[in-house]
Amino acid sequence: FVMSLQEAKKIAARQAVDEHVQSGNLVGIGSGSTVIFAVERLAERVKKEDLKVQCVPTSFQARELVIKHQLPLTDLNINPLLDVCIDGADEVDSNLNLIKGGGGCLLQEKIVASCSKKLIIIADYTKNSSKLGDQYKKGIPIEVSPMVYVPIQKKIERLYGGKVELRMAVMKAGPVITDNGNFILDWKEFNQDHDWKKINTDLLLTPGIVETGLFIGMATKAYFGLKDGSIKKQE
Ligand code: A5P
Repeated sequence: FVMSLQEAKKIAARQAVDEHVQSGNLVGIGSGSTVIFAVERLAERVKKEDLKVQCVPTSFQARELVIKHQLPLTDLNINPLLDVCIDGADEVDSNLNLIKGGGGCLLQEKIVASCSKKLIIIADYTKNSSKLGDQYKKGIPIEVSPMVYVPIQKKIERLYGGKVELRMAVMKAGPVITDNGNFILDWKEFNQDHDWKKINTDLLLTPGIVETGLFIGMATKAYFGLKDGSIKKQE
């Protein structure tokens, strides 16, 4: 018996929602394919248990998802501190450091997570890694201002090595534009033994880097759906 990736995402999402969301909670809604199952479970609990929640989405996609399931929407300026944020990840290392932003939503994801008491990560078994870069090969996403993407590309390659690519759109001739009107650089083939906390801080001091997909010391707990249908929890 081997669980499909979809099933693995689903069991992790449902268990995280059941263990971390209570009635009256303000909930950050992450982005990506795993979060879809979390929102479905929230909507199910609203119907079955009369659960009361208000949601803050982390992207256009998350907002549409919340609206589709008729969950109440709010924002950080109305509700500055959320009880919990539930989000996926591209990779989770053994210290609960994350690569996020494969879906390009890193800026709003990091903002919402930073305004939440807990960040709960939901993922399938392919995201579970010991070192950043072990599993996920698409690179570390970095959101940048369009006017300075080439200097930033060159600077990262020169200072830290690896290859930094401008993320291109699929159904358009040109780059991906984020929900915030910026570009995404994907930093690939990096040295896996970097001090990620320091690199993240240094990158964020660079004018034009809006946010990085390195989520260091932010996650509270991760739920991985495994192949055998069980759930691995990491905290
Ligand atoms: C979006 O920008 C990402 O950070 C997602 O949270 C991440 O890519 C996880 O997506 P999946 O649940 O689709 O793997």
